[in-house]
Amino acid sequence: MDAVRIYGGKCLEGQTTIQGSKNASLPILAATLLIEGTCEIENCPEISDVYHMLRLLKSLGCKVEREGTLVRVNTEKLSECDMPSDSVGVMRSSIMLLGALLARTGRVCMEYPGGCVIGQRPINLHLQSLRKMGVVIEENETEFCAEAAKLKGAVLNLPFVSVGVTENAILTAVLAEGETIIKPAAREPEIQALCEFLQCAGAKIEGSGSDCLTIRGVNRLYPARYRIPADRIVAGTYLSACMCAGGRVFLRDAPVHHMESVLTRAVEMGAAIDYEADGILVTGRDHRAVCHTLSTGCYPAFPTDMQSPFMVIMALSDQGGSIEETVFENRFRIVPELCRMGADITVHGNTAYISSSKLHGAIVQAEELRGGAALVIAALAAEGTSIVTNRHYIDRGYEDIVLSLRQLGASLELA
Ligand code: EPZ
Repeated sequence: MDAVRIYGGKCLEGQTTIQGSKNASLPILAATLLIEGTCEIENCPEISDVYHMLRLLKSLGCKVEREGTLVRVNTEKLSECDMPSDSVGVMRSSIMLLGALLARTGRVCMEYPGGCVIGQRPINLHLQSLRKMGVVIEENETEFCAEAAKLKGAVLNLPFVSVGVTENAILTAVLAEGETIIKPAAREPEIQALCEFLQCAGAKIEGSGSDCLTIRGVNRLYPARYRIPADRIVAGTYLSACMCAGGRVFLRDAPVHHMESVLTRAVEMGAAIDYEADGILVTGRDHRAVCHTLSTGCYPAFPTDMQSPFMVIMALSDQGGSIEETVFENRFRIVPELCRMGADITVHGNTAYISSSKLHGAIVQAEELRGGAALVIAALAAEGTSIVTNRHYIDRGYEDIVLSLRQLGASLELA
C-alpha cells in the first residue's frame, strides 16, 4: 500500500485549498524551543515531516498538542536528552533544532541528519557558522556534539546562499550576546515567515527578505501565536498538475506574492491564470509551441523544488526545452522514470534536455519528495494506467495528495 495507481487521461476540474508551508512550519516549530511557555502555530500541515518534527520536540521533553492544523508546543519541561535517531535520520530539517537547542540548553548531541537523494546535503556551513558564534563542536563518523557556555553574535560571511544555514544562524543568534550579521542571507518566503514568528516573540531582526540579515540578541523570547503561510511549492505542484492533465482548477489560498517566477513561466508555457481575492483560477491550456529554457536558483529565481514538475510540463509541450539545475547536484533522479513513461530526456552535467513526447502508463518509483509528486503529475497526463511506488516520499510534503487529486476529478487509488 505504499504506492498509488493512476488512471491517466482525465482533466482536472474543481478547487483545492493549499496547505500550510512545510518549509516554513519546520523551522518555526524548531524555533518554539527558544521560547519558555506555550506557542500556538496555526495552519501547520498534516504531513509526515511535521509529524517527525513534533516527535523530536516531544522526545526533548516538550508538551505537544495537535487539533487539526493547530499545534501547541509547551517547552517548559525541556530536558536535555538525545533525539530519536529514527526521526533525526529520516528528516534533514532536524539540523534546524541544533541552533535552537544550543540557545536553550547549551549542549546538543545528534546524528548527522538524513536527507534525500537530490544531493549530499552536507552541513559544513551549519557547523562553521556555529563555531564562529562560540560553539565547540566535536565530530565523529556518525554523530557530533555541540556545546556553548554562551553564544556570541558574529559576522557570518557565507560562500553562497543556503536556506538551512540562514535558518540555523537566525535561531542561534536571536538569544546570543551581541549582534549577528548573515550575508548573503536566503530570501525565501519561509525565512521571512520564520523572522515574522520570532519578531512576534520579541526577537530583534532586521533585513527579512533581503540578502543581509542583522540580528541583535535579546535576553528572552515570549510565547507567540502565528499562522503558517500557504505552501508555494504545493500550489505550484497543483498548478503543474492542471497544466499537464488539462482542465480548470481554483487554488484557494495560493500565495501568489511568493510565486511570481513560477506563475510567469507557467503562463509562458501555456497556462491561463485568473487572479481572485482568495486564490488563483488556473486553466491548463494547450501548450505553447515555444521551446522553453529554465534555470533554477535562490529566491526570487525559479525554485529548485518546482524543477521536476516543470520537467513534466516541458515533456508534454509542443517544443520541449531544457532545464539547468543550479542548487542541488543530483536533482534529475526522475529522468529515468519519466523515460520509462515514454519521455525523451537526456542529461548533460547539470542540464536536462527535454524533447516533446507522448507519455504512456508505467510502473515508476519515487525516490524523493518533489520528484515523486512530478511522477504523479506525469501519470495524470499519461495514456493508460501507472503505478507510482514509494508514496511515503510524497507524504513527507503533501497532505493526502490522492484525496486532493480525486476531489479534482482525477482517477487514482492507493495501491
Ligand atoms: C531547503 O533545503 C529546503 N528544505 C529544500 O526543500 C529546498 O530545495 C532548498 O532549501 C533550496 O531552496 C527545507 O526547507 C526543509 P540549502 P536546504 O541549504 O536548507 C549546499 C523540499 O522539497 N549546502 O539552501 O537543505 C547544499 O548541498 C526540500 O521541500 C552545503 O554545501 O537547502 C545545496 O547544494 C528539498 N553546505 C545548497 O547548499 C551546508 O552546510 C543549497 O542548499 C548547507 C548547504
